[in-house]
Amino acid sequence: MSVISQETVNLLNEHLNLEHYSANLYFNMAGWCEKEGLKGCSKFLYNHSSEEHTHLEKFREFINKAGGQAVMGEMKAPECKFNSVEELFEKIIKHEEYITSCINKLVSISMDSKDYVTLKFLEWFVKEQLEEEELFNDIIKKIRILEDLKGRNLYTFDKFVGNLDSQEHCS
Ligand SMILES: [Fe+2]
Repeated sequence: MSVISQETVNLLNEHLNLEHYSANLYFNMAGWCEKEGLKGCSKFLYNHSSEEHTHLEKFREFINKAGGQAVMGEMKAPECKFNSVEELFEKIIKHEEYITSCINKLVSISMDSKDYVTLKFLEWFVKEQLEEEELFNDIIKKIRILEDLKGRNLYTFDKFVGNLDSQEHCS
């Protein structure tokens, strides 16, 4: 007997796959940075990819605990080529804003159906998305301060990103 409806299980599975997509996207972005010699950005993005894996595991654990079955679906290949590091981080902030909107949609569905257990589970992700957006917005602000990410500026930026502790956001 499932604590949550099959419809909710399906929606949560959809989101689990989205977290998996995020992990793969950041993995590919990290690879591009590594190829470009941006060791700081690369390290940060590989760490962030692992953090996204912990998110999908949270969904897996909740779905199965609630009597559903966590299922991995077909995965669209994320992009792996970028024109610049600015473009890459602009893409990340857009992606995280999209993830936030998906979490918000799940919250409102849970509220409408008085599904309090799912609502409680999603609470952590509401807070997490706030942190994710703050983190990436800080990076975008740094890009704007440095203006032109070339030469020494790019070196400074890469060092800055490499020193960000992305594990701080992982719990
Ligand atoms: Fe995530």
